[in-house]
Amino acid sequence: MIVIAGSASSKLAARVAKQLKCPLVKPELKHSPHGETYLRIGTKLKGAHAIVVQSTPYPQNDNLMELFFLLGAAKDSGAIHVTAVVPYLAYARQSKRYKPGEAISAQTICKLIGHEADELFVVDIHDVKIMKNFLTPARDLSAAPLLGQYFSSLNLKRPLILGPDQKAFECASRAAVELGAESDYLTKKRVTPTKVITQTKSLDVAGRDVVIIDDIISTGGTIIEATKSLKQCRTRRIYAACTHAVLVGNALKKLTAAGVTKVIATDTIETQVSVASVAPVIAEAIRK
Ligand code: R5P
Repeated sequence: MIVIAGSASSKLAARVAKQLKCPLVKPELKHSPHGETYLRIGTKLKGAHAIVVQSTPYPQNDNLMELFFLLGAAKDSGAIHVTAVVPYLAYARQSKRYKPGEAISAQTICKLIGHEADELFVVDIHDVKIMKNFLTPARDLSAAPLLGQYFSSLNLKRPLILGPDQKAFECASRAAVELGAESDYLTKKRVTPTKVITQTKSLDVAGRDVVIIDDIISTGGTIIEATKSLKQCRTRRIYAACTHAVLVGNALKKLTAAGVTKVIATDTIETQVSVASVAPVIAEAIRK
């Protein structure tokens, strides 16, 4: 096995290689003055199982193009099996056609990855139905247990793990199991793409530490609204956790200003809040 590091996942790729106890290759990557990407894998891969690790956060299109080149170059360099590890898959929210003629972007991307890779691993994909569009065997891995394990280092008082909406409840309960804590969810209504309303139902949160957990924190709007509601119920400390810290603009500042004690994320997107690595989860899935 050889791990090939995409530029968006250089740290994670190194961690995966360490877990798998195999070599790490950093390809040569350049951008021409007219905006094109040059990529070269300077290592022979004849007969190898190549594991390409490349997430696709902003700039999504550049990172996707790099991913396709990495997969193609790995095959051309003689790899007998190419595994694509795309922990954060861009365009996963554009998975349906709402108006005639709209591009189903997620579907196109799945097909393109499937043309180049023999198998694929993603982590907490936004809409699991997308998986049916992959032409290769594909698996969605969960980061919830490792986030739950991380929470145990926070010394939480009477912890409650909350999904900001019903969809996130499964993730909350999987994380809560690791901690031996309770889990529940809030009710969320999205009014516009950047505005949501959150209600706490009748949760027992007074004096307790609460972790709100979601697959993605993008603008921070969902967590900020949840935080406002929880503060009204005299919650002790509020933590925000996610798999993918997209963190658009000054989302992190806004979360802190809203009263979030700490933001916790994995390294599917490498950010300053990436404190829990998905490398062991990826390595275990590859070994199976
Ligand atoms: C929505 O379905 C997702 O699970 C997240 O709740 C959403 O992407 C978070 O976005 P934002 O941080 O912009 O509210």
